[in-house]
Amino acid sequence: MNQPDFTALIEAARTAGTLAYAPYSHFPVGAAVLTASGRIFQGCNLENAAYPLTMCAERVALFSAYAAGERTIVALAIMTPTATFASPCGACRQVMVELAPQSQVILLNRAGEQQRTTPHALLPHGFGPAQLDEARDT
Ligand code: THU
Repeated sequence: MNQPDFTALIEAARTAGTLAYAPYSHFPVGAAVLTASGRIFQGCNLENAAYPLTMCAERVALFSAYAAGERTIVALAIMTPTATFASPCGACRQVMVELAPQSQVILLNRAGEQQRTTPHALLPHGFGPAQLDEARDT
């Protein structure tokens, strides 16, 4: 099968990072998701003076796609201003497994180099709806 062209998705992640609101960490993160219908949704991190309220770029992008009615995420690109590759936080990994289980995750460093992975590789043994069902059945 041909690999989809992720050029526009990667560019969207890069530009999303320029829109980050990160006055406390000074660590802008850009994310973008590509949906099965071919649409791209961007996300950036959004911080708050009440620090724990901060929202990561990955979740902004995924929630934005879902809020627009999209349900199948083909790929998620994430760019951090680091020499190494982005390492999504645990909360975002949990959300990726549920909202984008079959997606390709493209990690990008500040040089624009890529590393590919998947939600399940990032979060093996994540909590899921099956556990909720089990509790209901007992
Ligand atoms: N951040 C993200 O947006 N995504 C990640 O995967 C890791 C961290 C944000 C949260 C916070 O605004 C800043 O980066 C530093 O933690």
